[in-house]
Amino acid sequence: MKAVVYDRYGPPEALRVEDVPRPSPGPAEVLVEVVSVSVNLSDWECLRGSPLYARIGGLRRPARPTLGSDIAGRVAAVGPGVTRFGVGDEVYGDNLDRKGGFAEYAVAPESALAPKPADLTFDAASTIPQAGPIALQGTALARPGSRVLINGAGGGSGAFAIQLAKRAGAHVTGVDNAGKLDFMRARGADEVIDYATDDFTRGGRRYDLVLDLVAYRSVFAYRRALAPGGRYLCVGGTVRTLLRVLSIGTIAGRLTGRRIGVLVVKLGPEHFGPVADLCVAGDVEIDIDRTFGLEDVPEALRTVGEGRALGKVVIEVA
Ligand SMILES: NC(=O)c1ccc[n+]([C@@H]2O[C@H](COP(=O)([O-])OP(=O)(O)OC[C@H]3O[C@@H](n4cnc5c(N)ncnc54)[C@H](OP(=O)(O)O)[C@@H]3O)[C@@H](O)[C@H]2O)c1
Repeated sequence: MKAVVYDRYGPPEALRVEDVPRPSPGPAEVLVEVVSVSVNLSDWECLRGSPLYARIGGLRRPARPTLGSDIAGRVAAVGPGVTRFGVGDEVYGDNLDRKGGFAEYAVAPESALAPKPADLTFDAASTIPQAGPIALQGTALARPGSRVLINGAGGGSGAFAIQLAKRAGAHVTGVDNAGKLDFMRARGADEVIDYATDDFTRGGRRYDLVLDLVAYRSVFAYRRALAPGGRYLCVGGTVRTLLRVLSIGTIAGRLTGRRIGVLVVKLGPEHFGPVADLCVAGDVEIDIDRTFGLEDVPEALRTVGEGRALGKVVIEVA
């Protein structure tokens, strides 16, 4: 089968398409014929080996030869003990631990997969498993009238997060680059900020909830942006910032009646299913900026990594 492989951390040029043996499912695993796989920022991070947490399991060399975790496709074979799926079933899920989605076939644990809703295309379904739970859990504290700021709101998780916070009745501010301001407004943001020209932690603006998808500032800057009782949740960013948030942030926040912490997102069907239900009902829109073929995975990763995607980018494998 064809797969996009790499054996060293680096730029998209480190990737190449190769013929490799088709994997076999082990106990409680499913072989999926991949139809669509969406690109996450985590794919870019694992390609580059940066931030450092992207090297977990493979400090010097990539732990897995093929990236791609959010797959949608058809079951091609099942391993011993699989009870929920049979050959031909349409499934989707986040295969973050195993990856391997930038290929014609990928093996995933049965527990990572769910039946694909008939009303969602494979492309659409592949956008939800990782970005959906980040957005859902990241906006769970949004309340009617609360002031919510989403940093990195023009990307895959951000586009869902804006919509979920608006559904909760919050006043939403989206922060991203200048090319994404109109897109964030179209998704429902009440206010938008271009991060290149305006720093949301300055100017006396205060928020009840800050969801940060790309954290790099000091803990004290985040505290400045929180209203009394406010909450800062860091989902992704530099390791230095994540460590500071976990250590100094916890104390600095508590001392002033605010809470500053890292959101460890729970992934899996029970967490992405509710977002898929909202998409099927038409309550949440799915944004696919561009689709690429398997040969174009390097360009697709570059598009996401360099911040040129409005919402999600999808690889159409089959
Ligand atoms: N905590 C957990 O448990 C967990 C689980 C899974 C994934 N994650 C992480 O979650 C993060 C979010 O991923 P995603 O897929 O939503 O990313 P994405 O689609 O790439 O969106 C990130 C957005 O942030 C923008 N951005 C970059 N630098 C910025 C800055 N300085 N200020 C404001 N916006 C900026 C990007 O645009 P530009 O680049 O053009 O600026 C892009 O629009 C990733 O880091 C991933 O590793 C965390």
